[in-house]
Amino acid sequence: MNNNPLPNLDENPELREKLLRECRLSPGEIWSDPQGRHKVGCIDAADSEQTAHLLDGACIDIAVHDPPYNLVIFQERSVEEYINWSRRWMANTVDNLAADAAVYIWLGADQNKGFQPLPEFMIMMREFHELTSRSFITMRNQRGYGTQHNWMAIRQECLYYIKGRPEFKVQYTEIPKVLKGYYKVVGGELTENSERGRSENIRPGNVWHDIQQVFYRMEENVSGCYAQKPLKAIERCLLASSQEDGAVADFFAHAGTTLIAAERNRRRCFTCDTDPLFCEITIRRLEHLRKTGKTGWQNDNAFGITC
Ligand SMILES: C[S@@+](CC[C@H](N)C(=O)[O-])C[C@H]1O[C@@H](n2cnc3c(N)ncnc32)[C@H](O)[C@@H]1O
Repeated sequence: MNNNPLPNLDENPELREKLLRECRLSPGEIWSDPQGRHKVGCIDAADSEQTAHLLDGACIDIAVHDPPYNLVIFQERSVEEYINWSRRWMANTVDNLAADAAVYIWLGADQNKGFQPLPEFMIMMREFHELTSRSFITMRNQRGYGTQHNWMAIRQECLYYIKGRPEFKVQYTEIPKVLKGYYKVVGGELTENSERGRSENIRPGNVWHDIQQVFYRMEENVSGCYAQKPLKAIERCLLASSQEDGAVADFFAHAGTTLIAAERNRRRCFTCDTDPLFCEITIRRLEHLRKTGKTGWQNDNAFGITC
C-alpha cells in the first residue's frame, strides 16, 4: 500500500497555496463533464444566482447535502447566523426541486453546546411548507470524539424529507437475518418471519450501524479531506430515493462522494464547493474512477505529489 497521504488541507496553509495553482476552477466557475453527465461548480451554496447557473435548468430529483456543522468552519459564528445561512442554501434547493423529490441533510449536534445546530435546523425546516419530514437517520461513526467522562460521540444525523410523492425503494444491509420463530397469521396461514421477508438480509432502518467510516486503508479514502462521508451511505440514499438518469444535487462537495455515488449508479450530479481545492479533488476523483475503476486513492493523494 502506498504511504503518501496529504495532511488535512484545512490545517496546512502552505500546502494549500501550492495546490491551488493546480486547480482548474476559480471562484464563480463551473466545470462541465466532457461525458455530459455532471457539473462541478466553485460556487457558494447560499447564492441563488450561482446555484441556478450550476443547475442550468435541471430540476433536482434528490438532494444529498452535507454542510459544515457549525463545529469547525463556523466555530466563530452564532447558531442564529448558521441557521440564517442554512435557510438560504435550503431555499436554493427547494426552489429547484422536481415535483416529486427527496432531500437528505447530514447534520451534527454538538453535545457540549446544547446540541446545536440540529434542533434549530429542524425547526427552521418547518418553514419550507413544500417539504414533509419522513425520517431521522442516525449513522454510527466509529471514530467519534469525547472523553472518559462522557459517552463518546459516535453519531451522525441525517434528516430525510420529501416533496410530493417520490418513489422509495427499500434497501437491505449485508447482515443476514438471524431472528427466527416470529410467527404471524397472514391470509389465514401461520407464517414464520423468514417466509414473510423479501430478503435474506435485514433492512438498515433509520439507525445505520453497518457502514464503515472511511479511513486510510480503504480504497475510497481521499487524503487531505477532513469530512469525507462513506460512499455506501450516499449510495444508500440514491438507491432508495432516485432513479437512473435522475438529477442529484450536493451543494457541499468536499471529497466528491456524492458525485462518485452518482457516477457509479448512473445518475447525473450537480455539485459545488466554495473551495477550489475540493472542487479539483472532486473532478480528479471522477477522472480517477473512470480511468482506474478505483473510488479513491487509499493512502496516496489526488495530486500525485510527495508530502
Ligand atoms: C462536511 S464537508 C462535505 C463532505 C462530503 N459529503 C464528502 O463526503 O466529502 C462540507 C464542505 O462544504 C464546503 N462549504 C462550506 N461553505 C460552503 C458554501 N457556502 N458553499 C459551498 N460549499 C461550502 C466546505 O469547503 C467543505 O468542503
